[in-house]
Amino acid sequence: MRKGLIAANWKMNGQEESNEALLSEILEALHGLSAHENAQTEILICPPALYLQQVGKKLEGSQLKLGAQNVHPAESGAFTGEISAQMLRDVKCSHVIIGHSERREVFGEDDQFIAEKFSAAQASDLIPVLCVGETQALREAGETSEAVLGQLKAVLNHAGVDAFKNSVIAYEPVWAIGTGLTASPEQAQEVHALIRATISELDTGVGEQIKIIYGGSVKSTNAAELFAQQDIDGALVGGASLVAEEFVSIWSAYCSN
Ligand code: PGA
Repeated sequence: MRKGLIAANWKMNGQEESNEALLSEILEALHGLSAHENAQTEILICPPALYLQQVGKKLEGSQLKLGAQNVHPAESGAFTGEISAQMLRDVKCSHVIIGHSERREVFGEDDQFIAEKFSAAQASDLIPVLCVGETQALREAGETSEAVLGQLKAVLNHAGVDAFKNSVIAYEPVWAIGTGLTASPEQAQEVHALIRATISELDTGVGEQIKIIYGGSVKSTNAAELFAQQDIDGALVGGASLVAEEFVSIWSAYCSN
């Protein structure tokens, strides 16, 4: 059975004091859960880069993992404002989010650049959390599969299916991010199954074991029905990850699934 992953994407939110308070609440709530519940999922916190060290320190000795929201593909050099994979390793990150729709849309990252980031992350032993998802216009035009598979295949062709052994895919329909709209469990399952089938065609083992998590307005009230779907292995949570009670409820919805 695949172990689940509940990941918090804080985006550009938080400051030292509020980070400290939020993490204290989350850690305290997690202590109250049973060892059985704890064993079923991994939890990942992805704060803004500036706070990785603060959050990493706070998470020391806990089961929670630390992730970044972005990485540059180059090892070093003249890339003002950017952060390399080795730098993320230095501050003890285990994961990094790659290709989030906000990076694609707001910062103009294309499939090729995202594929290079994916490989750079892996070369430094970071687990990439590769985000894919269609816009509302593409969904309405009936082009969801083409859009999602196009983004996936750009990385598959660049890195090879073996590279997906140690990676996570996040299906995040762009129209559901931060909008309060969520894909129905069936809509999400359909795309998750398609992603898994596409990888399985290349390597059954990798397809079976890869975690495919869902993102887009996940909250405590809709988490359980999403997690009941066969190919949904957890969630990438934005807004609701900034509220300890919500985030812990989402996690416990996965555990009791
Ligand atoms: P949301 O964000 O939960 O606020 O919709 C999810 C994401 O963008 O990762």
